Amino acid sequence: MTRIPLVAGNWKMNGRRAMAAQLAAEVAAGAPAGVEVLLCPPLVYLDTVAAAAKGSPVCFAGQNVAATSDGAFTGEVSAEMLVDAGCQYVLVGHSERRTLFAEDNAQVADKFCRALEAGLRPVLCIGETLAEREAGRTEQVVNAQLEAVFSRITAAQLVGAVIAYEPVWAIGTGMTASPDQAQAVHAHIRARLSGAFGAELAESLRLLYGGSVKADNAASLFAGADIDGGLIGGASLDAETFLAICQAATA
Ligand code: PGA
Repeated sequence: MTRIPLVAGNWKMNGRRAMAAQLAAEVAAGAPAGVEVLLCPPLVYLDTVAAAAKGSPVCFAGQNVAATSDGAFTGEVSAEMLVDAGCQYVLVGHSERRTLFAEDNAQVADKFCRALEAGLRPVLCIGETLAEREAGRTEQVVNAQLEAVFSRITAAQLVGAVIAYEPVWAIGTGMTASPDQAQAVHAHIRARLSGAFGAELAESLRLLYGGSVKADNAASLFAGADIDGGLIGGASLDAETFLAICQAATA
């Protein structure tokens, strides 16, 4: 099965309105064919970014979503609001949410389910810390992160979802997983998907690699048979660099 590659730019908490508009316009103008390009801007700039990218095939995602539906939850943004604001996707369980904001597997699964209920495509972010990798626990950690979500959903609900493998030790550190290390975990994730939901679904889902992807290492990472694009942090803040990474995913 051919999977259309996906490259997502996670701007995190960076930029101002003018920068967001310019970056989105440049990405929209230069987005290559043969890859789905997804921008995850700070939510306050989503309208600006959507206007700047109007008419292009670029899609949008929230970086986070509330685990509950609308109501008295000060500071939260619901999945329905993200849809209303023009998002097709949402990141759930990014490692910064897990480590800095203490989101556990159960909360991440709640958010994943809320996204599905609202018609958003969740991008489930998973990955091990350096200590966990060095202790030989990578697969165990990833399995637990996957299982928390898998136990809550059916195969039909998973259609269109995305899983991003982001080793925590590689995020924002300049330490990228080697193509072999990344591919090994991706193959493992696809095998778990296949075991839980069947080979057909497992083959159809896109698995992204994230963690210090740059213009000069993207092609070798994306060459992995089970690596269908990337989740890009720092390198997505520069249009030329981000577009080079998008281009590498089309090869
Ligand atoms: P990085 O971030 O590309 O800056 O390592 C990746 C991410 O956090 O999604």
